[in-house]
Amino acid sequence: MQQIDGSLQTLLPSQHVWDVYLRDICATAFGAGRLMSLPADVLKQIDLMPWLLDVRPAQRMPGRNDWRTWLFSGGRGAGKTRAGAEWTRWAALMGGYRRIALVGATLHDVREVMVGGESGLVRTEHRVGFAPEYSASRRTLTFDNGAVAQAFSAEDPDSLRGPQFDAAWCDEAAAWTYGEATWDMLQMGLRLGHRPLAMVTTTPRPVPLVRRLLAAPDTVHTHSRMDENRANLAPGFVAAMHAKYDGSALGRQELDGVMLDDPDGALFLRSEIDAARVGTVPPLDDVVVAVDPPATSGKTADACGIVAAGRAGRDAYVLGDASVPGLKPLGWAERAVALVRLTGAREVIAEANQGGEMVRQVLETAGCSVPVRLVHARVTKRGRALPVATLYQQGRVHHAGTLADLEDEMCRFGAADFAGSPDRVDALVWAIWALMLDEAVLRARQL
Ligand SMILES: Nc1ncnc2c1ncn2[C@@H]1O[C@H](COP(=O)(O)OP(=O)(O)OP(=O)(O)O)[C@@H](O)[C@H]1O
Ligand SMILES: [Mg+2]
Repeated sequence: MQQIDGSLQTLLPSQHVWDVYLRDICATAFGAGRLMSLPADVLKQIDLMPWLLDVRPAQRMPGRNDWRTWLFSGGRGAGKTRAGAEWTRWAALMGGYRRIALVGATLHDVREVMVGGESGLVRTEHRVGFAPEYSASRRTLTFDNGAVAQAFSAEDPDSLRGPQFDAAWCDEAAAWTYGEATWDMLQMGLRLGHRPLAMVTTTPRPVPLVRRLLAAPDTVHTHSRMDENRANLAPGFVAAMHAKYDGSALGRQELDGVMLDDPDGALFLRSEIDAARVGTVPPLDDVVVAVDPPATSGKTADACGIVAAGRAGRDAYVLGDASVPGLKPLGWAERAVALVRLTGAREVIAEANQGGEMVRQVLETAGCSVPVRLVHARVTKRGRALPVATLYQQGRVHHAGTLADLEDEMCRFGAADFAGSPDRVDALVWAIWALMLDEAVLRARQL
């Protein structure tokens, strides 16, 4: 066994408690049944933080101290959220950090995943009676030593204007609606204490924020594939993920956490979507919701594509994607109706190749109060999408914030290895077609 001796004391300042060296020594002592031979201070730290004995290398805070942002990227279920929660817990209880920002894609995600989820901050507190308390009204999580973490949503970057922090944990930053704006606001407030730090945990997508973080000189990057965390995942989950993604390009992102660039043949390009993206939408002349119903329902069925878009002058604005897999007709119809209400759409465009009149009926049963126009696909999906892709190339279609799942599907659609059904793209194409390419609309505008 390596030196389990007084020299450890020099490593003990809490900044170093995650150090590889210390962790390996603890693990070796633990494996050799000699845990009690460790110095009392180390034992105390392990007692407070048993995660030190479980943590995998990619989940371990880098020992160097020349970084300001730690980006931990990985596939689905790779242990990103758990690592973020454990690091935040360490920062609050052992690192001396007192004012922490918790930033998620939505406030719901912060509350349900980062704080209260299976891998979240409340569950990672193993000491009975010491779990941090969340105040929904103040959106704060208070640790038992008085350190406070405050919840923020990447849907509202301005909410980060004003408050100051000494640490931040950002989960699933590659799917944030206003990624760069949220990050910039956070950085301005991250200015308390002697060494403000941020940890970002995410499945990597080639969005501007992730590219920027990877290129920044003060970012350190660790990475894990889903399979490396296999021992801690339900066998059913791992098998289902492999069945769904093995052999596909998306599998490299979802399982291996590899950042994918635009594949050959893709009809829509990331760079075009990014270049035309907007934070605010101008007053709109027209809004529609398009629905692409699945042929069947149930767990293995295709998703129901549900996309809202509007038009202002010569440009279109994609406002929201409520597409959903696995719901029965009334379930997806209710989501479509909710999106109609949210966006003030004047009409629902529904593809009627699957289900015909039934689609109209189910939307009406779900309370749809605007007209439902049934449309029939006569050309191939690719043929329909081509003129819409041209509008993207011309910079005339703008996404309001990031629509992560829709954009992932768009940027794979058309590529040689694209598998599955492009339900979100179908709904998007119908919506843009109805707003910008429908002959009736074009004629009316020329009058
Ligand atoms: N080093 C570890 N030791 C023990 N359990 C772990 C470890 N890392 C992660 N886990 C467990 O693995 C499961 C998945 O982890 P987690 O939720 O953090 O994954 P994730 O990458 O955030 O997943 P998703 O892609 O769904 O967001 C959780 O139950 C978590 O507690
Ligand atoms: Mg997670």
